[in-house]
Amino acid sequence: MKTGVLASGSGSNLQSLIDNWQKGTLAPAELVVVGANVEGCLALDRAQNAGIGTFVLSHKAFAVREDFDHAMVAELRKRGVELVVLAGFMRVLTPAFLDAFPKRVLNIHPALLPAFPGIHAQKQAFDYGVKVAGCTVHFVDAGTDTGPIIAQAVVPVMPDDAEETLQKRILAEEHRLLPAVVRAVAAGKVTVEGRRVRVEAASAFADGRLRSLV
Ligand code: GRF
Repeated sequence: MKTGVLASGSGSNLQSLIDNWQKGTLAPAELVVVGANVEGCLALDRAQNAGIGTFVLSHKAFAVREDFDHAMVAELRKRGVELVVLAGFMRVLTPAFLDAFPKRVLNIHPALLPAFPGIHAQKQAFDYGVKVAGCTVHFVDAGTDTGPIIAQAVVPVMPDDAEETLQKRILAEEHRLLPAVVRAVAAGKVTVEGRRVRVEAASAFADGRLRSLV
């Protein structure tokens, strides 16, 4: 399944997708393009180093969100993209984008949704004083981090944690969870009924370290 990744920043989740793809463990998903809205972001370098085509569209060049979204869709369609993964992509997408890829847009969020949506999720969780934290991969809808949850991974919050150490622990789980979900979606092992998402767990999450709650 031809997969496009959208990113805005450092792209460590993109890197984990690339590493899996190069090892053959992302199949049947195939990375065909990486798009960014921030010129010069590290994610673009990572894609180029892996020989993946890239494009940059600055949202600032568009008067309204929908125009930006239509332009993004056109870029992805050019490369035959069927599945879109948001890996640190810091723009909210409108139906102008989402309707072009129904149930085929995934996002990784660094908190156990529905708790702590939006930005600085790890800080929100840390400041709140939760005892477990984690990450969520979900289908994207028009809200902010509100779409149906596909999989989650949990990490403990240690008594001597700082926000940075917690963030690092969550990120390590993100790097395991996202490729597993992309693989499962591409393999047709993920079905959605309203808010409830079913994953054929045995094969999709064979790696017990994922500790996924599906
Ligand atoms: C990750 O924490 C992801 O969950 C969130 O943005 C961050 C992106 O990090 N959506 P990176 O660019 O993949 O390193």
